[in-house]
Amino acid sequence: MDNASGGCMEFETRGVKWLAESANIERIPNRFILPEHDRPDEDYSPNPQFHSDHLQIPIIDMAHIHIGDQRPSVINQLLQASREWGFFQVINHGVEERILHNMLDAGRRFHQQPAEDKMKYYTDDYEKTRYAPSLDKPKDKPANWMDMLIMVFQLGRNNNFEDWPPVCRETAMEYWKGVRSVAETLLGALSEGLGMPTHHLQSCGLIDRQLLAVNYYPPCPQPNLTLGISAHSDPGTITILLQDAVGGLQVLKDGAWVTVQPQPNAFIINIADQMEIVSNGKLKSVEHRAVTNRVEARVSIPSFFSPPWDVKVSPIINNDDDSHEGYQECMFGDYMRFFLAKGLERKSALHLSRKIT
Ligand code: OGA
Ligand code: NI
Repeated sequence: MDNASGGCMEFETRGVKWLAESANIERIPNRFILPEHDRPDEDYSPNPQFHSDHLQIPIIDMAHIHIGDQRPSVINQLLQASREWGFFQVINHGVEERILHNMLDAGRRFHQQPAEDKMKYYTDDYEKTRYAPSLDKPKDKPANWMDMLIMVFQLGRNNNFEDWPPVCRETAMEYWKGVRSVAETLLGALSEGLGMPTHHLQSCGLIDRQLLAVNYYPPCPQPNLTLGISAHSDPGTITILLQDAVGGLQVLKDGAWVTVQPQPNAFIINIADQMEIVSNGKLKSVEHRAVTNRVEARVSIPSFFSPPWDVKVSPIINNDDDSHEGYQECMFGDYMRFFLAKGLERKSALHLSRKIT
């Protein structure tokens, strides 16, 4: 069967995992092939050992964040990492190992179901649980080698947890609570670090919405021609990601891609676009991508924290230093519509909120 010529568009509802397995393909369909300059530079080897001498995003120990005299030092580290990298890992964040482990397992179980069971969640409604094979982006963009499940929670609403898939519902609900409290702690720390009262950022509604996603990256026969997820910055406020030991997430630093080395029981945190806007460019929303590999499927669990769509976001920090970029007020829903229409394209959505001078 020749899949390279296309004709396999069923993956858009059935999933990339289904495509990879049903056709047992040796070459990926054209729809997945990236322009040369966007392709990964080298083959990624899964399950790398941690090398402390490799260039690495900062690892921050949160054990003492609630202890009075040690809090300033932790906040300093969080702030510095958010300025310089926009990305860091946290350890001793307070969510039990058992919960992390169960969530990765439950997420994997969702994706291992027959395509028919997952397709029930295929929808355009962003308020519902959503199965999004290959990130259902504009048709003129290359597709990504991944399937995504997205569950929605929003404060102040009647959340319909019955809508979350039964194979992972209970585990996801336990996980969702844990990760939410980490987000609140981090936002409080960043708020203080930026010179504001602890609860200020949260009281602006900046993390009232939470998408709990499960990304599944099947093994890929041609990992150097495509990506699991194309280079992008996240549109929301802050993202907290749990990854399994396979790894493949890469972060842009000074023009080069740095692999985030899997670290057991750590969360990977990244500053997203709304936080860059609120801080007027002081904290950085940084481009990242995920590479695939030939041998092993990978699971990652991002929680995307953002404002509800009807919240207006504007810079809070004064633009008193010329090196900070100027941003203007934008309704988060408008931002999201713009982001979704464009598809994943580096940091392009942020232009919408740039101040016109
Ligand atoms: C995302 C993302 C990276 C990963 O879903 O926005 O960047 O490692 N995912 O899954
Ligand atoms: Ni992302």
